Amino acid sequence: MTLLDRTSIPNAPVAERRQRPAEVDVWVSQIAQLLEPAEIRWVDGSTRERHELLQLLVSTGTIEQLNPDLRPYSFLARSAESDVARLESRTFICTEHEADAGPTNNWREPAAMRAELEGVMRGAMRGRTMYVVPFAMGPIGSPMARFGVQVTDSPYVVVSIGTMTRMGDAALDAIARGASWVPAVHSVGAPLAPGQQDVPWPCNDTKYIVQFPETREIWSYGSAYGGNAILAKKAYALRIASVMARDEGWLAEHMLLIKVTPPSGKSYHLAAAFPSACGKTNMAMMTPSLPGWKVETIGDDIAWLWIGADGRLRAINPEAGFFGVAPGTGMRTNPTAVDALWGNTIFTNVARTDDGDVWWEGLTDEKPARLTDWRGEQWTPDSGRPAAHPNSRFTVSARQCPSIAEDWDDPEGVVIDAIIFGGRRASNVPLVVEARDWDHGVFMGATIASEQTAAAEGTVGELRRDPFAMLPFAGYNMADYFAHWLDFGRRLRRSARVPRVFQVNWFRKGADGSFLWPGFGENARVLEWMVGRLDGQIGAVDSPIGSLPSDGALNVEGLELDEAALTELFRVDPAAFEAEADDIEAFFATFGDRLPVELSRQLTLLRDRLAAA
Ligand code: GDP
Ligand code: PGA
Ligand code: MN
Ligand code: MN
Repeated sequence: MTLLDRTSIPNAPVAERRQRPAEVDVWVSQIAQLLEPAEIRWVDGSTRERHELLQLLVSTGTIEQLNPDLRPYSFLARSAESDVARLESRTFICTEHEADAGPTNNWREPAAMRAELEGVMRGAMRGRTMYVVPFAMGPIGSPMARFGVQVTDSPYVVVSIGTMTRMGDAALDAIARGASWVPAVHSVGAPLAPGQQDVPWPCNDTKYIVQFPETREIWSYGSAYGGNAILAKKAYALRIASVMARDEGWLAEHMLLIKVTPPSGKSYHLAAAFPSACGKTNMAMMTPSLPGWKVETIGDDIAWLWIGADGRLRAINPEAGFFGVAPGTGMRTNPTAVDALWGNTIFTNVARTDDGDVWWEGLTDEKPARLTDWRGEQWTPDSGRPAAHPNSRFTVSARQCPSIAEDWDDPEGVVIDAIIFGGRRASNVPLVVEARDWDHGVFMGATIASEQTAAAEGTVGELRRDPFAMLPFAGYNMADYFAHWLDFGRRLRRSARVPRVFQVNWFRKGADGSFLWPGFGENARVLEWMVGRLDGQIGAVDSPIGSLPSDGALNVEGLELDEAALTELFRVDPAAFEAEADDIEAFFATFGDRLPVELSRQLTLLRDRLAAA
């Protein structure tokens, strides 16, 4: 048998499509022939089914139940040590022509990858149950909703998909009514021989996360970590969806979505793209330090944006839950998240307290005297290692978030007033800058650099270009992606108000190595300046890299921030940006003549402004 080519799936007559659409049925049986599971189970998405799966996971030792008095109906999973983050080196974009995947992706020739996958996938589910998991991204009934079916041999992945998407019968019904769907195959790659004892976290040292954007297929092998295994999320809602978006004229982005309401009562919607572990979930759940200000959550990781019938930029959060970074989440930084995690939460790779609750660095200021660390070993504050893995995560339903906006799942989305790009930069990049116009904003997005975090493998702290925070997620040539954004601006300009574009950096450090800006709820002060800009009510001064708050325009009242720190936060060093410009030029050169000329022009303009400064 050859791996299924999407085009070979027979189309079932519409009349026959009921609960189990025939084309899904056919695909499932073909996949089962390859993977050879002991059993096939269709997932309906019910609460009872979730309960049964959680019980099963407890019985196999994959998760343990936390103390129900302290953390009702919540669980702790400890992964294998090698399965703690996304694996960018094992993530592949398979297109007929290498140039269509572009220089920023790992490309493989589709036929060669199919042969390779067939090799590892054959018999991969022996001795295990194959779950068939229909899901919707976006509110079912929204013009933006998209569908998929994932097969997986991991019940942990099934319950995770249950939190992160609209999973089960409702999605399958929509497919039965004719909605198109993306097939996604996932196996932990740990077949069981008859009588073989399972391990708590089955996975394989060899891993693949493979996207075929042209045939809209996903294959994942060897990992059960969320970002590698909940295929609806990064693989579909970003990598495959970015290609759909290019073809259909919309945007699939690594962005949080918030509704901001100042004391005036007039609300604004903002979308912000930061790389993984650079502050999206925190900003999405911000408790503003400024009196009378309110921030409500719409999404914390992924946004799909399109131009509505009214010509305005609209956006939905295609997800239904949060897969958030635990370390750093505490009452002082993100009380909303702490509240959201009161119960019904799955924690992965955090530490456990003696009384059966969870802990991670930053949850409380004081470290518990004794813990069981994320590896399951005894831990004390003198152990000299983190108790929770730096990329430990919580998985919780969006509905449980106290700051969730009333219109968070509006099928028509929300109108976006501003777009924000950001990264983690110890030096050079000011706290906030406003782009001169859309095209300059695209240049800002295209040239974002950020220090690497624990969310993916690699050296933490290493600076790299991460355009639009999409480096690991764009399913096609990044230069074409830039062109798509430029084109989007032209379409917006024709019909309506174009959103303003800003760049932020919460992570600039002083000479002593500590953050200059207090961040978290105090980031509301930056929102205040942005909203003032949207209304044309607040001052800005020109700089070579964009507009900065004019003297006194950023409200720092009541902050313990000395004059020197404030100056440093906004310092634009021409020499440092000359060096940035050189680095950007080298980065742009990797795209050859596929790079839109507008971006080369923006670089020239930046150099001219730097020379004149
Ligand atoms: P996401 O992965 O982009 O959603 O990022 P998170 O919001 O989960 O944050 C990742 C890490 O950055 C956590 O450890 C946070 O505590 C930290 N963080 C988030 N916002 C800020 C901020 O404004 N200032 C500082 N210093 N750290 C932040
Ligand atoms: P994050 O999401 O952006 O919240 O870290 C997971 C990821 O990007 O791996
Ligand atoms: Mn993310
Ligand atoms: Mn997040």
